[in-house]
Amino acid sequence: MRKLRVLALMHPELVPPDDAAERDEKERFVWKTEWDVCRTLRDIGHEVKALGVQDELVPIRDAVEEFKPHIVFNLLEEFHGNVLFDHNVVSLLELLRVPYTGCNPRGMIISREKALSKKLLIYHRIRVPAFHVFPFGRKAKRPKSLELPLFVKSLTDHASLGISQASLVKSDEELTERVAFVHRRLGSDAIAEQFILGREIYIGVIGNDRLTALPPRELVFENAPDGAPLIATARAKHDLDYQKRHGIDQRAAQDLPDGVAAGLEHLAKRIYRTLELTGYARLDFRLRPDGSLYFLEANPNPEIALGEEFASAAQAAGIEYPELLQRIINLGMRGTAPE
Ligand SMILES: Nc1ncnc2c1ncn2[C@@H]1O[C@H](COP(=O)(O)OP(=O)(O)O)[C@@H](O)[C@H]1O
Ligand SMILES: [Mg+2]
Repeated sequence: MRKLRVLALMHPELVPPDDAAERDEKERFVWKTEWDVCRTLRDIGHEVKALGVQDELVPIRDAVEEFKPHIVFNLLEEFHGNVLFDHNVVSLLELLRVPYTGCNPRGMIISREKALSKKLLIYHRIRVPAFHVFPFGRKAKRPKSLELPLFVKSLTDHASLGISQASLVKSDEELTERVAFVHRRLGSDAIAEQFILGREIYIGVIGNDRLTALPPRELVFENAPDGAPLIATARAKHDLDYQKRHGIDQRAAQDLPDGVAAGLEHLAKRIYRTLELTGYARLDFRLRPDGSLYFLEANPNPEIALGEEFASAAQAAGIEYPELLQRIINLGMRGTAPE
């Protein structure tokens, strides 16, 4: 295998310290993804330079000129503390003509906006929850066509920011209140979606033209609080104690109804193409008891730590972690426009 110079871009606070291996597990958890990627790439023979990026573009340009990376491994999720700016950094890499891993800027823009992505999919007759957007600062008035209960969230944020059990609204009063909350607390437009009661299924896809869908995963709540419906709230995703308390687990999706697994794979690839995703992404679905699948959202450049959902799904498909990272690099090397 060819030895490459890899410039890994990440949040400055997540650059693993030189003595990373000696730190305790809790400390390592914070920058685990960045460390897993850097050390694994080094283990397989690449030269890796980790660069913290926050609100300066010049260091990226300097590192590209001085280190001359064959590829940039993009682990950034924001710029200027704004998640909506992540695609601009990728655009800069394109302007600098340096190959990069993961999604292209267009796919990021299309998939990030929870209304735009659904509009495109509706054109292709892919099932998504009915929805309505409530622009920032305007009072919510429910269109008659949209029936309660509804699920209210930010149009553009991710990582379940602002999502809790209160996001599920059952009356017009609750809707108005929750939309105002999203406007006030997250400073963004709000989207209210038809609430899809069902199993929560994730599926990873890798590729640019030829796509590989990974085996589906499921988020399960062994003991949901007081019969509350399953919702992947911020606590459910990130709070280890809460996860333990409620038996929240991510695992291979088992006992899917006949035809759903194959249907899911086909559907995931169609969606990936429609949203112009490249590199790797995770698509989130809801599976209703009647077997119908609803697309919730796409996550370009998803969490890629060793042992987390994407890497575990890859492993279940026979793709070990070093091979997964190498594949992502190979796709990045191929994915950029020719000179
Ligand atoms: N329309 C919906 N019906 C049911 N549950 C939903 C719906 N939209 C979101 N959720 C729940 O909220 C979680 C987070 O929503 P999502 O749109 O994926 O936002 P984020 O980008 O913050 O992950 C989902 O994983 C799911 O559990
Ligand atoms: Mg999500």
